[in-house]
Amino acid sequence: MLATKAVEPFGVYVHWPFCRAKCPYCDFNSHVRHGGIDENRFRAAYLTELSHFASLAPGRRVSSIFFGGGTPSLMQPASVAAIVDAIAAHWGIAPDAEITLEANPTSVEAENFADYRAAGVNRLSLGVQALDDHSLKALGRMHTAEEALQALALAKRHFARVSFDLIYAREGQTIEQWNEELRRALDHAADHLSLYQLTIEEGTPFAARHAAGALLVPDGELAGELYSLTQELCEAAGLPAYEISNHAQPGSESRHNLLYWRGHDYAGIGAGAHSRITTDGAKRALCTIKSPEAWLAQVEAHGQGIMSDEALSAEDAAEEYLLMGLRLAEGIDLARFAAIGGSALDEDRLDALKSDGLIARNGSRLTATPAGRLVLNQLILELAA
Ligand SMILES: C[S@@+](CC[C@H](N)C(=O)[O-])C[C@H]1O[C@@H](n2cnc3c(N)ncnc32)[C@H](O)[C@@H]1O
Ligand code: SF4
Repeated sequence: MLATKAVEPFGVYVHWPFCRAKCPYCDFNSHVRHGGIDENRFRAAYLTELSHFASLAPGRRVSSIFFGGGTPSLMQPASVAAIVDAIAAHWGIAPDAEITLEANPTSVEAENFADYRAAGVNRLSLGVQALDDHSLKALGRMHTAEEALQALALAKRHFARVSFDLIYAREGQTIEQWNEELRRALDHAADHLSLYQLTIEEGTPFAARHAAGALLVPDGELAGELYSLTQELCEAAGLPAYEISNHAQPGSESRHNLLYWRGHDYAGIGAGAHSRITTDGAKRALCTIKSPEAWLAQVEAHGQGIMSDEALSAEDAAEEYLLMGLRLAEGIDLARFAAIGGSALDEDRLDALKSDGLIARNGSRLTATPAGRLVLNQLILELAA
Protein backbone atom coordinates (compact mmCIF):
# COMPACT_ATOMS: atom_id res chain seq x y z
CA MET A 1 0.00 0.00 0.00
CA LEU A 2 2.71 2.46 1.01
CA ALA A 3 4.77 1.65 -2.07
CA THR A 4 1.82 2.47 -4.38
CA LYS A 5 1.13 5.72 -2.57
CA ALA A 6 4.75 6.80 -2.84
CA VAL A 7 4.63 6.82 -6.67
CA GLU A 8 1.13 8.29 -7.03
CA PRO A 9 1.05 12.04 -7.59
CA PHE A 10 0.68 14.00 -4.36
CA GLY A 11 0.36 17.78 -4.28
CA VAL A 12 0.59 20.55 -1.73
CA TYR A 13 -1.58 23.64 -2.10
CA VAL A 14 -0.59 26.77 -0.16
CA HIS A 15 -3.28 29.44 0.10
CA TRP A 16 -2.19 33.07 0.60
CA PRO A 17 -5.44 34.87 1.46
CA PHE A 18 -4.43 38.51 0.97
CA CYS A 19 -4.78 40.95 -1.94
CA ARG A 20 -3.92 44.59 -2.46
CA ALA A 21 -7.56 45.31 -3.42
CA LYS A 22 -10.65 43.16 -3.84
CA CYS A 23 -11.74 42.77 -7.47
CA PRO A 24 -15.52 43.26 -7.80
CA TYR A 25 -16.10 39.91 -9.59
CA CYS A 26 -14.07 37.71 -7.23
CA ASP A 27 -15.43 35.48 -4.47
CA PHE A 28 -12.21 33.64 -3.67
CA ASN A 29 -11.06 33.61 -0.05
CA SER A 30 -9.07 36.82 -0.39
CA HIS A 31 -8.92 39.78 1.98
CA VAL A 32 -7.46 43.28 2.03
CA ARG A 33 -5.63 44.35 5.19
CA HIS A 34 -4.76 48.03 4.85
CA GLY A 35 -2.78 47.99 8.07
CA GLY A 36 -0.55 45.19 6.73
CA ILE A 37 -0.04 41.78 8.32
CA ASP A 38 2.63 40.23 10.50
CA GLU A 39 4.20 38.00 7.86
CA ASN A 40 6.63 36.39 10.29
CA ARG A 41 3.71 35.06 12.34
CA PHE A 42 1.94 33.81 9.25
CA ARG A 43 5.12 32.15 7.95
CA ALA A 44 5.61 30.34 11.26
CA ALA A 45 1.95 29.23 11.17
CA TYR A 46 2.31 27.77 7.64
CA LEU A 47 5.31 25.78 8.82
CA THR A 48 3.41 24.55 11.88
CA GLU A 49 0.38 23.50 9.83
CA LEU A 50 2.63 21.75 7.30
CA SER A 51 4.03 19.54 10.08
CA HIS A 52 0.49 18.57 11.02
CA PHE A 53 -0.44 17.62 7.45
CA ALA A 54 2.82 15.71 7.09
CA SER A 55 1.71 13.58 10.04
CA LEU A 56 -1.69 12.97 8.36
CA ALA A 57 -0.14 11.88 5.05
CA PRO A 58 3.12 10.09 5.78
CA GLY A 59 5.18 8.28 3.15
CA ARG A 60 4.24 10.46 0.17
CA ARG A 61 6.53 12.19 -2.27
CA VAL A 62 5.44 15.62 -3.49
CA SER A 63 5.03 15.90 -7.25
CA SER A 64 3.61 19.44 -7.35
CA ILE A 65 3.23 22.51 -5.17
CA PHE A 66 0.86 25.39 -5.93
CA PHE A 67 0.96 28.79 -4.22
CA GLY A 68 -2.53 30.18 -4.90
CA GLY A 69 -4.66 32.95 -3.57
CA GLY A 70 -5.49 35.63 -2.99
CA THR A 71 -2.24 37.03 -4.24
CA PRO A 72 0.79 34.87 -3.36
CA SER A 73 3.05 37.32 -5.20
CA LEU A 74 2.57 39.55 -2.14
CA MET A 75 4.49 36.94 -0.11
CA GLN A 76 8.10 37.63 0.74
CA PRO A 77 10.30 35.29 -1.31
CA ALA A 78 11.84 34.15 2.01
CA SER A 79 8.41 32.84 3.09
CA VAL A 80 8.01 30.92 -0.17
CA ALA A 81 11.51 29.47 0.24
CA ALA A 82 10.85 28.45 3.85
CA ILE A 83 7.63 26.64 2.86
CA VAL A 84 9.26 24.83 -0.09
CA ASP A 85 12.16 23.78 2.14
CA ALA A 86 9.78 22.50 4.83
CA ILE A 87 7.79 20.49 2.26
CA ALA A 88 11.06 18.95 1.06
CA ALA A 89 12.06 18.10 4.62
CA HIS A 90 8.69 16.49 5.49
CA TRP A 91 7.91 14.51 2.36
CA GLY A 92 10.69 14.97 -0.19
CA ILE A 93 10.03 16.71 -3.50
CA ALA A 94 10.37 14.77 -6.77
CA PRO A 95 13.26 16.10 -8.88
CA ASP A 96 10.87 16.97 -11.73
CA ALA A 97 8.21 18.50 -9.47
CA GLU A 98 6.17 21.43 -10.72
CA ILE A 99 6.19 24.39 -8.32
CA THR A 100 3.75 27.12 -9.40
CA LEU A 101 3.10 30.55 -7.94
CA GLU A 102 0.16 32.77 -8.92
CA ALA A 103 1.21 36.36 -9.46
CA ASN A 104 -0.56 39.60 -10.17
CA PRO A 105 1.21 41.43 -13.00
CA THR A 106 2.04 44.74 -11.34
CA SER A 107 5.57 46.08 -11.62
CA VAL A 108 6.09 45.85 -7.85
CA GLU A 109 5.36 42.14 -7.84
CA ALA A 110 7.46 41.51 -10.96
CA GLU A 111 10.48 42.76 -9.01
CA ASN A 112 10.34 39.57 -6.95
CA PHE A 113 10.28 37.07 -9.85
CA ALA A 114 14.02 36.28 -9.70
CA ASP A 115 13.79 35.67 -5.96
CA TYR A 116 10.78 33.35 -6.34
CA ARG A 117 12.78 31.39 -8.91
CA ALA A 118 15.65 31.15 -6.41
CA ALA A 119 13.14 29.94 -3.78
CA GLY A 120 12.33 26.94 -5.99
CA VAL A 121 9.32 28.17 -7.99
CA ASN A 122 9.63 26.87 -11.56
CA ARG A 123 6.27 27.89 -13.06
CA LEU A 124 4.48 31.24 -12.88
CA SER A 125 0.77 31.83 -13.46
CA LEU A 126 -0.01 35.49 -14.12
CA GLY A 127 -3.45 37.05 -13.68
CA VAL A 128 -3.51 39.26 -16.77
CA GLN A 129 -7.36 39.11 -17.13
CA ALA A 130 -7.68 41.49 -20.13
CA LEU A 131 -5.44 43.14 -22.69
CA ASP A 132 -7.02 46.61 -22.74
CA ASP A 133 -7.01 49.27 -20.04
CA HIS A 134 -10.71 50.03 -20.25
CA SER A 135 -11.61 46.40 -19.43
CA LEU A 136 -8.95 46.18 -16.73
CA LYS A 137 -10.46 49.24 -15.05
CA ALA A 138 -13.95 47.75 -15.28
CA LEU A 139 -12.59 44.59 -13.63
CA GLY A 140 -11.10 46.71 -10.83
CA ARG A 141 -7.55 45.62 -11.64
CA MET A 142 -4.50 47.45 -10.28
CA HIS A 143 -2.40 47.13 -13.46
CA THR A 144 -2.47 48.34 -17.05
CA ALA A 145 -2.27 46.08 -20.09
CA GLU A 146 1.25 47.36 -20.82
CA GLU A 147 2.37 46.59 -17.26
CA ALA A 148 0.90 43.09 -17.56
CA LEU A 149 2.75 42.44 -20.84
CA GLN A 150 5.99 43.67 -19.29
CA ALA A 151 5.47 41.36 -16.31
CA LEU A 152 4.78 38.51 -18.73
CA ALA A 153 7.99 39.18 -20.68
CA LEU A 154 9.96 39.24 -17.44
CA ALA A 155 8.27 36.04 -16.24
CA LYS A 156 9.31 34.30 -19.47
CA ARG A 157 12.92 35.31 -18.83
CA HIS A 158 12.92 33.81 -15.33
CA PHE A 159 10.69 30.74 -15.65
CA ALA A 160 10.77 27.87 -18.12
CA ARG A 161 7.00 27.52 -17.75
CA VAL A 162 4.60 30.47 -17.72
CA SER A 163 0.82 30.63 -17.91
CA PHE A 164 -1.53 33.57 -17.85
CA ASP A 165 -5.22 34.01 -17.12
CA LEU A 166 -7.76 35.99 -19.11
CA ILE A 167 -11.43 36.50 -18.30
CA TYR A 168 -13.77 36.63 -21.29
CA ALA A 169 -17.53 37.14 -21.82
CA ARG A 170 -16.99 40.48 -20.10
CA GLU A 171 -19.47 43.35 -20.08
CA GLY A 172 -20.36 44.29 -23.66
CA GLN A 173 -17.70 42.05 -25.21
CA THR A 174 -18.40 41.09 -28.82
CA ILE A 175 -17.15 38.12 -30.82
CA GLU A 176 -14.97 40.46 -32.91
CA GLN A 177 -13.37 42.01 -29.82
CA TRP A 178 -12.61 38.64 -28.22
CA ASN A 179 -11.29 37.31 -31.52
CA GLU A 180 -8.80 40.18 -31.69
CA GLU A 181 -7.86 40.01 -28.00
CA LEU A 182 -7.38 36.24 -27.94
CA ARG A 183 -5.24 36.32 -31.09
CA ARG A 184 -3.01 38.92 -29.42
CA ALA A 185 -2.90 36.80 -26.26
CA LEU A 186 -1.84 33.77 -28.27
CA ASP A 187 0.98 35.82 -29.81
CA HIS A 188 2.26 36.41 -26.27
CA ALA A 189 1.48 32.96 -24.85
CA ALA A 190 4.19 30.65 -23.57
CA ASP A 191 3.13 27.02 -23.00
CA HIS A 192 -0.18 27.43 -21.12
CA LEU A 193 -3.25 29.69 -20.97
CA SER A 194 -6.24 29.72 -18.58
CA LEU A 195 -9.27 31.34 -20.22
CA TYR A 196 -12.21 31.78 -17.85
CA GLN A 197 -15.68 32.80 -18.85
CA LEU A 198 -16.78 35.56 -16.42
CA THR A 199 -18.97 34.06 -13.71
CA ILE A 200 -21.28 36.30 -11.73
CA GLU A 201 -20.57 35.13 -8.18
CA GLU A 202 -23.18 35.62 -5.49
CA GLY A 203 -22.39 38.29 -2.93
CA THR A 204 -19.91 40.20 -5.12
CA PRO A 205 -20.36 43.82 -6.30
CA PHE A 206 -20.75 42.40 -9.85
CA ALA A 207 -23.68 40.27 -8.67
CA ALA A 208 -25.43 43.32 -7.19
CA ARG A 209 -24.96 45.31 -10.41
CA HIS A 210 -26.04 42.33 -12.50
CA ALA A 211 -29.21 41.87 -10.41
CA ALA A 212 -30.00 45.58 -10.79
CA GLY A 213 -29.68 45.27 -14.57
CA ALA A 214 -26.67 47.60 -14.59
CA LEU A 215 -24.16 44.93 -15.72
CA LEU A 216 -24.95 43.12 -18.93
CA VAL A 217 -22.71 40.19 -19.79
CA PRO A 218 -22.84 37.85 -22.77
CA ASP A 219 -24.89 34.77 -22.00
CA GLY A 220 -26.79 32.04 -23.83
CA GLU A 221 -25.92 31.82 -27.50
CA LEU A 222 -23.27 34.55 -27.48
CA ALA A 223 -21.49 32.94 -24.52
CA GLY A 224 -21.52 29.62 -26.41
CA GLU A 225 -20.04 31.29 -29.49
CA LEU A 226 -17.31 32.95 -27.41
CA TYR A 227 -16.48 29.55 -25.90
CA SER A 228 -16.37 27.82 -29.30
CA LEU A 229 -14.16 30.56 -30.77
CA THR A 230 -11.82 30.12 -27.80
CA GLN A 231 -11.47 26.39 -28.50
CA GLU A 232 -10.90 26.97 -32.21
CA LEU A 233 -8.23 29.67 -31.92
CA CYS A 234 -6.31 27.92 -29.16
CA GLU A 235 -6.33 24.61 -30.98
CA ALA A 236 -5.09 26.28 -34.19
CA ALA A 237 -2.29 27.93 -32.19
CA GLY A 238 -1.11 24.59 -30.76
CA LEU A 239 -2.64 25.06 -27.29
CA PRO A 240 -5.66 22.76 -27.30
CA ALA A 241 -8.01 22.64 -24.32
CA TYR A 242 -7.13 19.84 -21.92
CA GLU A 243 -9.81 21.09 -19.51
CA ILE A 244 -12.86 23.34 -19.90
CA SER A 245 -10.88 26.55 -19.24
CA ASN A 246 -7.28 25.41 -19.60
CA HIS A 247 -5.17 25.20 -22.73
CA ALA A 248 -1.63 23.96 -23.13
CA GLN A 249 0.96 22.71 -25.52
CA PRO A 250 0.81 18.91 -25.18
CA GLY A 251 3.05 18.02 -22.24
CA SER A 252 2.74 21.46 -20.63
CA GLU A 253 -0.55 20.86 -18.82
CA SER A 254 -0.56 22.05 -15.21
CA ARG A 255 0.40 18.91 -13.32
CA HIS A 256 -0.96 20.28 -10.09
CA ASN A 257 -4.39 21.02 -11.51
CA LEU A 258 -4.42 17.66 -13.31
CA LEU A 259 -3.93 16.05 -9.95
CA TYR A 260 -7.22 17.57 -8.71
CA TRP A 261 -9.13 16.63 -11.83
CA ARG A 262 -7.73 13.09 -11.86
CA GLY A 263 -8.77 12.55 -8.26
CA HIS A 264 -5.37 12.23 -6.59
CA ASP A 265 -4.53 13.32 -3.05
CA TYR A 266 -3.31 16.73 -1.94
CA ALA A 267 -2.73 18.62 1.28
CA GLY A 268 -3.97 22.22 1.41
CA ILE A 269 -2.52 24.60 3.98
CA GLY A 270 -3.37 28.21 4.87
CA ALA A 271 -6.78 29.80 5.50
CA GLY A 272 -9.69 28.22 3.65
CA ALA A 273 -7.63 25.51 1.92
CA HIS A 274 -9.09 22.12 1.01
CA SER A 275 -7.36 18.72 1.17
CA ARG A 276 -8.09 15.19 -0.01
CA ILE A 277 -6.09 12.59 1.85
CA THR A 278 -6.59 8.84 1.59
CA THR A 279 -6.03 6.95 4.83
CA ASP A 280 -6.89 3.28 5.39
CA GLY A 281 -8.47 3.08 1.93
CA ALA A 282 -10.93 5.96 2.51
CA LYS A 283 -10.68 9.48 1.15
CA ARG A 284 -10.90 12.26 3.72
CA ALA A 285 -12.02 15.77 2.82
CA LEU A 286 -10.55 18.43 5.06
CA CYS A 287 -10.81 22.20 5.01
CA THR A 288 -9.30 24.91 7.13
CA ILE A 289 -10.86 28.03 8.71
CA LYS A 290 -11.53 30.74 6.13
CA SER A 291 -10.76 33.86 8.17
CA PRO A 292 -6.98 34.44 8.04
CA GLU A 293 -6.79 35.77 11.59
CA ALA A 294 -8.99 33.02 13.07
CA TRP A 295 -6.92 30.44 11.16
CA LEU A 296 -3.71 31.98 12.53
CA ALA A 297 -5.04 31.91 16.10
CA GLN A 298 -6.09 28.26 15.86
CA VAL A 299 -2.77 27.19 14.32
CA GLU A 300 -0.87 29.00 17.06
CA ALA A 301 -3.02 27.39 19.74
CA HIS A 302 -3.49 23.88 18.30
CA GLY A 303 -0.92 23.31 15.55
CA GLN A 304 -3.48 23.28 12.72
CA GLY A 305 -6.35 25.41 11.41
CA ILE A 306 -8.67 22.57 10.39
CA MET A 307 -12.37 23.40 10.49
CA SER A 308 -13.79 20.14 9.13
CA ASP A 309 -12.49 16.65 8.47
CA GLU A 310 -14.86 14.03 7.10
CA ALA A 311 -14.52 10.68 5.38
CA LEU A 312 -16.14 10.68 1.94
CA SER A 313 -18.47 7.76 1.27
CA ALA A 314 -17.51 5.55 -1.69
CA GLU A 315 -20.44 7.05 -3.69
CA ASP A 316 -19.39 10.63 -2.90
CA ALA A 317 -15.77 9.90 -3.83
CA ALA A 318 -16.89 8.38 -7.16
CA GLU A 319 -19.19 11.33 -7.87
CA GLU A 320 -16.35 13.72 -7.18
CA TYR A 321 -14.13 11.78 -9.60
CA LEU A 322 -16.86 12.06 -12.25
CA LEU A 323 -17.42 15.75 -11.58
CA MET A 324 -13.75 16.63 -11.81
CA GLY A 325 -12.73 14.12 -14.50
CA LEU A 326 -15.35 15.03 -17.07
CA ARG A 327 -13.91 18.56 -17.14
CA LEU A 328 -10.84 17.02 -18.77
CA ALA A 329 -10.53 16.31 -22.49
CA GLU A 330 -9.18 12.86 -21.51
CA GLY A 331 -12.35 12.22 -19.44
CA ILE A 332 -12.63 9.49 -16.82
CA ASP A 333 -11.79 5.83 -16.62
CA LEU A 334 -15.01 3.85 -16.16
CA ALA A 335 -13.24 0.98 -14.41
CA ARG A 336 -11.67 3.41 -11.92
CA PHE A 337 -15.07 5.02 -11.34
CA ALA A 338 -16.50 1.60 -10.49
CA ALA A 339 -13.52 0.75 -8.26
CA ILE A 340 -13.90 3.99 -6.28
CA GLY A 341 -17.68 3.89 -5.94
CA GLY A 342 -18.29 0.15 -5.76
CA SER A 343 -20.69 0.17 -8.73
CA ALA A 344 -20.54 1.03 -12.43
CA LEU A 345 -22.41 3.81 -14.25
CA ASP A 346 -25.77 2.75 -15.64
CA GLU A 347 -25.29 1.33 -19.19
CA ASP A 348 -28.73 2.41 -20.44
CA ARG A 349 -28.14 5.96 -19.33
CA LEU A 350 -24.69 5.96 -20.98
CA ASP A 351 -26.25 4.70 -24.24
CA ALA A 352 -28.93 7.39 -24.15
CA LEU A 353 -26.42 10.21 -23.54
CA LYS A 354 -24.22 8.79 -26.28
CA SER A 355 -27.04 8.82 -28.82
CA ASP A 356 -27.80 12.43 -27.75
CA GLY A 357 -24.21 13.22 -28.78
CA LEU A 358 -23.21 14.39 -25.28
CA ILE A 359 -20.67 11.70 -24.37
CA ALA A 360 -18.21 9.46 -26.21
CA ARG A 361 -16.72 6.12 -25.19
CA ASN A 362 -13.38 4.71 -26.15
CA GLY A 363 -12.78 1.40 -24.39
CA SER A 364 -12.83 2.15 -20.69
CA ARG A 365 -12.65 5.93 -21.18
CA LEU A 366 -15.66 8.20 -21.05
CA THR A 367 -15.43 11.79 -22.32
CA ALA A 368 -17.84 14.68 -22.74
CA THR A 369 -18.19 15.68 -26.41
CA PRO A 370 -17.94 19.42 -27.32
CA ALA A 371 -21.76 19.53 -27.17
CA GLY A 372 -21.67 17.78 -23.78
CA ARG A 373 -19.10 20.23 -22.43
CA LEU A 374 -21.44 23.13 -23.17
CA VAL A 375 -23.98 21.58 -20.76
CA LEU A 376 -21.50 19.85 -18.49
CA ASN A 377 -23.27 20.50 -15.19
CA GLN A 378 -26.55 19.00 -16.39
CA LEU A 379 -24.67 16.12 -18.00
CA ILE A 380 -22.92 15.25 -14.73
CA LEU A 381 -26.20 15.45 -12.80
CA GLU A 382 -27.76 13.09 -15.31
CA LEU A 383 -24.86 10.61 -15.08
CA ALA A 384 -24.69 10.70 -11.30
CA ALA A 385 -28.47 10.38 -10.80
C1 LIG B 1 -8.23 33.57 -7.41
S1 LIG B 1 -7.49 34.31 -8.76
C2 LIG B 1 -5.85 34.37 -8.16
C3 LIG B 1 -4.89 35.09 -9.08
C4 LIG B 1 -4.52 36.50 -8.79
N1 LIG B 1 -4.94 36.97 -7.52
C5 LIG B 1 -5.08 37.41 -9.84
O1 LIG B 1 -6.16 37.94 -9.63
O2 LIG B 1 -4.41 37.61 -10.83
C6 LIG B 1 -7.42 33.05 -9.99
C7 LIG B 1 -8.12 33.38 -11.29
O3 LIG B 1 -9.50 33.16 -11.18
C8 LIG B 1 -10.14 33.90 -12.18
N2 LIG B 1 -11.41 34.40 -11.65
C9 LIG B 1 -11.65 34.88 -10.40
N3 LIG B 1 -12.95 35.23 -10.28
C10 LIG B 1 -13.55 34.97 -11.46
C11 LIG B 1 -14.89 35.12 -11.97
N4 LIG B 1 -15.86 35.61 -11.23
N5 LIG B 1 -15.14 34.71 -13.24
C12 LIG B 1 -14.15 34.20 -14.01
N6 LIG B 1 -12.87 34.06 -13.58
C13 LIG B 1 -12.58 34.43 -12.34
C14 LIG B 1 -9.19 35.01 -12.61
O4 LIG B 1 -8.83 34.83 -13.95
C15 LIG B 1 -8.00 34.82 -11.71
O5 LIG B 1 -6.80 35.02 -12.38
S1 SF4 C 1 -9.06 38.16 -8.64
FE1 SF4 C 1 -7.10 37.86 -7.65
S2 SF4 C 1 -6.43 39.94 -7.03
FE2 SF4 C 1 -8.59 40.06 -7.47
S3 SF4 C 1 -9.56 39.77 -5.46
FE3 SF4 C 1 -9.53 37.76 -6.49
S4 SF4 C 1 -7.70 36.80 -5.75
FE4 SF4 C 1 -7.50 39.01 -5.30
